[in-house]
Amino acid sequence: MPYPHVLLSAAVSLDGYLDDTGPERLLLSSPADFDRVDEVRASVDAILVGAGTIRADNPRLLVNSPERRAARTAEGKPEYPLKVTVSGSGDLDPTAKFWHTGGEKVLYTTDDGARRAAALGLAADVVSLGPGLDWRRLLEHLHDVRGVERLMVEGGGTIHTQLLLQGLADELQLVLAPVFVGDEKAPRLFGPGGYQGGRLRLVESRRIEDVVLMRYEPTAPGTGPVPSAADHHWLRLACALADQCPPSRTAFSVGAVVVAADGTELARGHSREAGDPTVHAEEAALAKIDPADPRLADATVYSSLEPCARRASRPKPCSRLILEAGVRRVVTAWREPDTFVEEADGNGLLAAAGVDVVLLEDHEASAKAPNAHLLGG
Ligand SMILES: NC(=O)c1ccc[n+]([C@@H]2O[C@H](COP(=O)([O-])OP(=O)(O)OC[C@H]3O[C@@H](n4cnc5c(N)ncnc54)[C@H](OP(=O)(O)O)[C@@H]3O)[C@@H](O)[C@H]2O)c1
Repeated sequence: MPYPHVLLSAAVSLDGYLDDTGPERLLLSSPADFDRVDEVRASVDAILVGAGTIRADNPRLLVNSPERRAARTAEGKPEYPLKVTVSGSGDLDPTAKFWHTGGEKVLYTTDDGARRAAALGLAADVVSLGPGLDWRRLLEHLHDVRGVERLMVEGGGTIHTQLLLQGLADELQLVLAPVFVGDEKAPRLFGPGGYQGGRLRLVESRRIEDVVLMRYEPTAPGTGPVPSAADHHWLRLACALADQCPPSRTAFSVGAVVVAADGTELARGHSREAGDPTVHAEEAALAKIDPADPRLADATVYSSLEPCARRASRPKPCSRLILEAGVRRVVTAWREPDTFVEEADGNGLLAAAGVDVVLLEDHEASAKAPNAHLLGG
């Protein structure tokens, strides 16, 4: 199921706090950074905060610049992004600014919370997700029913922690402010939990007056059949690698990446690389890894095209090479068409051997693009 691109946005003190314990909201960003946040808000379809942030800060969550609002309307978008909040209890102040400023609002809640919200008369579309709140269902609903492609999440820490732990954050925009809070009762950005083991990818750092913006992408593959936001990143990379293949009229152009469970890239490859006219992408990537590498057992192979089940050029097809390498998770964008091999079913072969095979069809068009000349009209 496609979800929106989820961007977590927060400002933290040097000692990792989101706020202090005083009655007023602690302003951590600099004026120019608040303007950058306004720009990001103007670029998204929806902004989400948790009920705790509404209670603590009473935010309006608007696009403040009239020019940015005008540009949104000129593009046919609503003047303000949809405002979204999440509450299990439904216990929210109906006079909070959140409900009475900007454009449309949605509250995602539980069955109990929806009853409470109805009794309070909250000025919002109230969507119950059942007895508990499931983030995947929430994101699916935002995407499918509300048409949200880009979601900015502006806290608080409880919300950020859950989205990161569940592998649902595509991007983290973190601003480090040169202040200390020094109060252990103050809210932290991230709570304790089973975070990914390896390093996130730093994609940008920028000085903005006296604060620093850092943009990170989580890197850890999903587990089993459940995709993570990072799965999409790695599959995008595999599709980009397919573009590097020397062209051929007799074989597909495919890219592949092998990634350890902690998000470390182990190897990458593409069809016909390094002058070998018959090498396949997964084969090229796996050949660069020591077969005794213990990380292979819980690694994920990303391949723009389903791994081959039969091939004329070499004795072992890629699905067999993947099994022999001990890899138990494969993510791919495109099922193999009958162009060269009738009814190839590499995915089926892998699944029958106990491999979790995840097909992310929203990347199919980019996997096909370098093969357009083989696919006809
Ligand atoms: N510096 C920054 O960038 C920044 C940004 C935003 C917020 N903040 C600060 O963060 C603090 C608030 O953070 P917070 O962690 O207390 O609150 P929060 O993350 O904003 O909201 C937590 C609330 O959301 C609801 N919720 C979250 N996950 C849920 C789930 N899985 N199921 C059901 N309900 C769920 C619950 O509401 P119910 O209790 O209603 O059930 C929960 O109490 C404030 O001090 C604020 O100033 C700072």
